[in-house]
Amino acid sequence: MPDDTSRFIRACRGEPHDTIPVWFMRQAGRYQPSYRALRQRYSMLQLARTPELIRDITVRPVEDLGVDAAILFSDIMIPLASLGIDFDIQENVGPVVAQPVETRADVDALKPFDATDVDFVLEGVERTVSALNGVPLIGFSGAPFTLASYIVEGAPSRTYRRTKHMMWQEPDTFAMLMERLADMVIAYLKAQAAAGASALQIFDSWVGALSVADYRDSVLPHMVHIFSSLIELNLPLIYFGVGNQHLLEAMASTGASVLGIDWRTPLSQARTMLGPSITLQGNLDPERVTAGMDTAEQGAIDICRAMRGDPRFIFNLGHGVPKETDPAVLKHIVDRVHAMGGDGA
Ligand code: CP3
Repeated sequence: MPDDTSRFIRACRGEPHDTIPVWFMRQAGRYQPSYRALRQRYSMLQLARTPELIRDITVRPVEDLGVDAAILFSDIMIPLASLGIDFDIQENVGPVVAQPVETRADVDALKPFDATDVDFVLEGVERTVSALNGVPLIGFSGAPFTLASYIVEGAPSRTYRRTKHMMWQEPDTFAMLMERLADMVIAYLKAQAAAGASALQIFDSWVGALSVADYRDSVLPHMVHIFSSLIELNLPLIYFGVGNQHLLEAMASTGASVLGIDWRTPLSQARTMLGPSITLQGNLDPERVTAGMDTAEQGAIDICRAMRGDPRFIFNLGHGVPKETDPAVLKHIVDRVHAMGGDGA
């Protein structure tokens, strides 16, 4: 059974706990020799479609680093196969979609999400939860805008030009696509919760590309729909974006219980902006952990000092662990953060 008294879950809820909880986005990945060894034999997608491997890869950083939560090894693209979207994940590139969604007919042709198409993920969740001995497992999904950006562009983009053009010029088509994706996100996350996930994170990594007005008009209603549908699960719900300082107030108004903050925004400033009743997660610059022990440690210390005594704080990086990271630096950061957060901080 998931351990309700874990410091990670308690910090999500703003309940007192012994020290600062810490985990890392992309804590399972290519910076680990064990993951690179598996990648010699299997593709990323083969790994993500094999429950025993999902379990082993997910549990490994908990054992190696002593982090306070596991995050399911998978990818935001995985559930899109159920809608009939054919994609690949290319090394050092990211997700590539064979036939991008361009028209209303393309959106109408998407199949409804069927959770039995992702049985391997749900079995991976079950196996992982039993192997974790009470350490909470974070399930996750991409958010509709970030998923749409891959589906509409067909490949990683810096401008999100096609996605924005659809949003402005074919607003009904865009809204229908967002609605279909929101329905998928809700069903997919509910299925992960039923399989045993203790918290759920929604990655809206690229939403910071939008203006506040576009976010409020075209994205926020779908996010409110998602969070209000998930509230009945009574699990911590984490919402994360990058380069999204201008959107933080709107993103906090969705019903998320935890907001992921990137390294550009000081956590003290986010706290002042958002008030005391939302948990903040972040926000070490990921390049600090590639810069060596001392630079990483100094950044971590500054963040923990600024958040000292705040019961709603979870230490993380501001985005994923870079693949050039030395695992020993991450291990040191975990120990240092745990040592700094005593006295009920
Ligand atoms: O440890 C964890 O955080 C859990 C696993 C996880 C992966 N992807 C594994 C992965 C999670 C939570 C994701 C989410 C994800 N995938 C996001 C949102 C989070 C973020 O980083 O902003 C996004 C935007 C994607 C899309 C994606 N998938 C990208 C941009 C890439 C990187 C491309 C590259 O090779 O650099 C992937 C591939 C991917 N997802 C890898 C891993 C471990 C590397 C794949 C490999 O083994 O080659």
